[in-house]
Amino acid sequence: MHDDSQRMLEVRGLGKMFTLHNQGGIRLPVLQAIDFDAARGECVVLSGPSGTGKSTLLRCLYGNYLATEGSIRLRDTSVEGEPWMELTTAPEQHVLRLRRDVIGYVSQFLRAIPRVSTLDVVAEPLQQRGTALAEARERAADLLGRLNVPRRLWDLPPATFSGGEQQRVNIARGLVGNHPILLLDEPTASLDAGNRAVVVSLIQEALDAGRCLIGIFHDEAVRDAVATRLLPLQPVSQPVSRQTGAA
Ligand SMILES: Nc1ncnc2c1ncn2[C@@H]1O[C@H](COP(=O)(O)OP(=O)(O)OP(=O)(O)O)[C@@H](O)[C@H]1O
Ligand SMILES: [Mg+2]
Repeated sequence: MHDDSQRMLEVRGLGKMFTLHNQGGIRLPVLQAIDFDAARGECVVLSGPSGTGKSTLLRCLYGNYLATEGSIRLRDTSVEGEPWMELTTAPEQHVLRLRRDVIGYVSQFLRAIPRVSTLDVVAEPLQQRGTALAEARERAADLLGRLNVPRRLWDLPPATFSGGEQQRVNIARGLVGNHPILLLDEPTASLDAGNRAVVVSLIQEALDAGRCLIGIFHDEAVRDAVATRLLPLQPVSQPVSRQTGAA
């Protein structure tokens, strides 16, 4: 499908089943037999009704949730020769390094870090990748400015900000690190039309720069503007089963 050198992510036979240990071991199959590839410059948009596992899939791709079956391979661009790395069996340390250098994630809600200023919350991922603090702050300021986060807020921790302000801080933090792969979970849900348009431009610039994006966008106009491909998720038809024997 793609020129192989452009491929960044390869998902094969991915399945995720939750076992609810405090509910008598009820097993909830959410993802089944997911197959797809994603390449540089592509924005694959996950679609499907609420509860079909879109956020779960993003969390599996970030190594937050362990897949029950199947494989997730991504290209480790931080290592010479850009070898493929299997995420589902990678040791924790490798996963943390991939998150620092290769794969970024904009969650739906900002996980605020107490007492850290907004400017530094945004600059941190770039700083962690070895960029000097002053330069990381400059890049952070540039993104916060474009996302219309008022300058008077930059020295304050974002914990008390409005939903839309926090979401823009979160987007800036996700974009600043220039990760080659970026996962976006409804990044525009709390934004007004003007800021949605800014996010669309930032996403288009990321794609032009050859980054590979996987995202969830409920807003149809945003989806149409950024998607290069849709990946529809189907509800898993298998009934909920109760685990038998020892779990
Ligand atoms: N940690 C968890 N433990 C148990 N069940 C979970 C967990 N995370 C998600 N689920 C279940 O997996 C299913 C899919 O959830 P998910 O959040 O991935 O859906 P979604 O497609 O992102 O929905 P939405 O569009 O509403 O955000 C839901 O039924 C949810 O209850
Ligand atoms: Mg979701």
